[in-house]
Amino acid sequence: MFITFEGIDGSGKSVQSQLCVDLLSKEHNVIYCFDPGHTPIGNAVRSVLLNKEHMEMDPRTELLLYAAARSQLVSEVIRPHLDKGGVVVSDRFYDSTTAYQGYGRKLPLDLISKLNMIGAHELVPDITFIIDTDIEIASKRIGTADRLECENIEFRKRVRDGYYKLASEEPDRCYIIDGNRSIEDIHSDIAEILRKKF
Ligand SMILES: Nc1ncnc2c1ncn2[C@@H]1O[C@H](COP(=O)(O)OP(=O)(O)O)[C@@H](O)[C@H]1O
Ligand SMILES: [Mg+2]
Repeated sequence: MFITFEGIDGSGKSVQSQLCVDLLSKEHNVIYCFDPGHTPIGNAVRSVLLNKEHMEMDPRTELLLYAAARSQLVSEVIRPHLDKGGVVVSDRFYDSTTAYQGYGRKLPLDLISKLNMIGAHELVPDITFIIDTDIEIASKRIGTADRLECENIEFRKRVRDGYYKLASEEPDRCYIIDGNRSIEDIHSDIAEILRKKF
């Protein structure tokens, strides 16, 4: 079982994915990972992506770097664990690329979708939780700003709407969870869905 968490920055992905790992670890062999990063190569790519001095980064360069980091994560971490029968919980995966680089930066969606499959080695998550949090609430939750977090409000709105669109295209996989509530309420919705799936 491969589970991913998606949403804008500050929506609560990291908190909820960790709670998900804690819950599932009681009965399964679970690992947590985050995209981009997690592997030595992925972390090196991540630091290039999040560097505030790289404001001139071309959108396609950004797209390729995300796919490169993800490819390493899949081959080094995710695929081997799934092959052993384990559960993988990932904080972001290729839906982030569709939402940010596709809907946010307006790169062609057909290009993104092809590149997503290359970077993911064709691996599709079994369940994707999209933590849907108002932009103002999410912004307040964020303490420090990295390069992506400096982006304007319009960009974030397009990203959030992008998540709605991609979720509507794959309703069996994607669950939109109201992220404007308490950590406990959000987790209990997620736990309920997981109970049904497992
Ligand atoms: N439902 C929530 N209500 C209030 N604060 C939250 C909630 N979820 C997360 N937070 C806090 O908001 C900040 C951002 O959460 P985080 O899980 O890191 O978001 P993300 O990984 O989506 O950027 C953290 O300080 C976290 O403790
Ligand atoms: Mg996070």
